[in-house]
Amino acid sequence: MERLPGFRDFYPEPPPAPSVWSAAARAFLFAKWRETARLYGFQEYDGPPLESLDLYKLKSGGEIVRQLYNFTDKGGREVALRPEMTPTLARMVAAAERGYKKPLKWFSIPQLFRYERQQKGRLREHFQFNADILGERDPGADAEMIALLIDTLRAFGLEAADFVIRLSSRQVWEAFYRRRGGDEARAYEFFQAVDKLERESEEASAKRFEELGFKLDQVRDFIESSEVSEDLAPIMEQLAARGLQDFVRVDYGVIRGLAYYTGPVYEAFDRQGKFRAIAGGGRYDNLIALISRGKVRLPALGFGMGDVVLTELLKERGLLPNLQPVLDVFVLVEDEAFRAESLRLVQGLREAGVATDYGLAPAKSDRQYKLALSRGARFTLRLVSAPDGRVRLKVKKPAQRTEEEIKPVDAVDFIKNQLQLEKGPSLRGEE
Ligand code: HAM
Repeated sequence: MERLPGFRDFYPEPPPAPSVWSAAARAFLFAKWRETARLYGFQEYDGPPLESLDLYKLKSGGEIVRQLYNFTDKGGREVALRPEMTPTLARMVAAAERGYKKPLKWFSIPQLFRYERQQKGRLREHFQFNADILGERDPGADAEMIALLIDTLRAFGLEAADFVIRLSSRQVWEAFYRRRGGDEARAYEFFQAVDKLERESEEASAKRFEELGFKLDQVRDFIESSEVSEDLAPIMEQLAARGLQDFVRVDYGVIRGLAYYTGPVYEAFDRQGKFRAIAGGGRYDNLIALISRGKVRLPALGFGMGDVVLTELLKERGLLPNLQPVLDVFVLVEDEAFRAESLRLVQGLREAGVATDYGLAPAKSDRQYKLALSRGARFTLRLVSAPDGRVRLKVKKPAQRTEEEIKPVDAVDFIKNQLQLEKGPSLRGEE
C-alpha cells in the first residue's frame, strides 16, 4: 500500500533516505514556533480538522475553495477538511470573544489539507504556524505581527540576507482599481490576477487584465512605483523603531490570493527567489462579522507560515540541527542473573527523570552496546560481580574508553550529577 500523493510520512531519525521527512525536524520547527509565540505573548488554541463546507465556500474565495477536500458525511452533512485555519479561528472567536480581554493574541499549529497540483514547496497537506491578533485596529498591531514573523524566521538562524517581507496594501490596490474605473463587482478577480502575475505567463496575465479593462503595463508600472502609502507608513516606522527595517520592503507585487483581506498584506520570501512563499498574511477586518452574520464585529489580522518551504530553506542553508536521538542511559543486561536488579535500576532511573532504555530481551553484549549507541546513550550501565562477591555498577561514556565502577545504590545520584555537569536536553536539536 502506497501513501497518497502529496501526503507525507514522518520518520524517526535517522530517516531512511535524505528526501524523507523527519519527525524530529518537525518537532524542532514546532518547538521554535511555540517559543517565539510565547515570547510575543500569544496563547495557543486549536479547532477541529473537519468543518462545515459552508465555512469556506463564502469566505476564503478563489483557489483555496477549488482545492477543498470535501464530501458528504454519513449524516448527510456537507463537510471539508480545513484548508486554512482563519475561518475556524473567526468562528471560534465570534462564539466566545466576550470571555476574553481584547486584543486577543492567539496562535495554533494546525495540519491543513488542499488538493493542490503537486509542485516544489506545495503538497496536499502541510502544517502551518498561525498567529493572529483580534480586536485591534491600530497599525501597531500590524507591525507587531510582522515583527513576530521576522523573529520567528530569525529564531531558526535566518537573517536579513536570507529572507524579506514584501509588504503591500489591499486598500492601495482597491484605490488603484476604483480610480481607473474598475467594475466593483469584479474587484476580487482583479486582485487574483495581480496575485498570479509572478506565477503565470505574460500572455495569460495580459489576457486576464484585458478582460477586466486594464493593461498589463499599467499594472506593472504601479507595482514598480511601490510608494510607502499612508496605511503602511506607521507600520514601517514601528518596525524601524525595533531595528527590523532591513527585513521589510514595500512591494505592491504582493496582494494575497484569499478574498477576506482588507488592509495591509504581506508575504515572506527567500531573497534568492528560489522557493515559494514561506509565509503570508494580513488584515481582515470584516471576516468575523461575515462569519457571525453581523453579530460580532472585531478587526483582525495575522499570518500563516507553512512547514514545507521553511524546512526546504533550512535544509538548503544547513540550519537544521543535528537531530539524532539522545538518551541519558542505556542499561546493558550482560548477565541474565542480574535482569531483575537491572529492571529495578531502570525503573529507579526513570522515576528520577533520567531517560533510560535497556535490552528488552536477552542478547549478546555487543548487540546491546550497538543498540545503545544507535539510541544516542550518553552513558551505558551494567551490573557485574566484583571479585569480592559484591554487585557493582560499571558506568561508561560511549565516547570514552574508560569505565568507572560505583555502588548500585549510588546510580541515580551519580548519573544525575554527571548529567547536571553536561546539562544537555534530551533532543540535541534544542541545544
Ligand atoms: P496562505 O498564503 O494560503 O495563507 O498560506 C500561508 C503559508 O502556508 C504559505 O505561505 C505557505 O508557506 C504555506 N502553504 C500554503 N499552502 C501550502 C501547500 N499546499 N503546501 C505547503 N505549504 C503551503 C493562509 O492560509 C492564511 N489563512 C494565513 C493567515 C492567517 N492570514 C491571516 N491569518
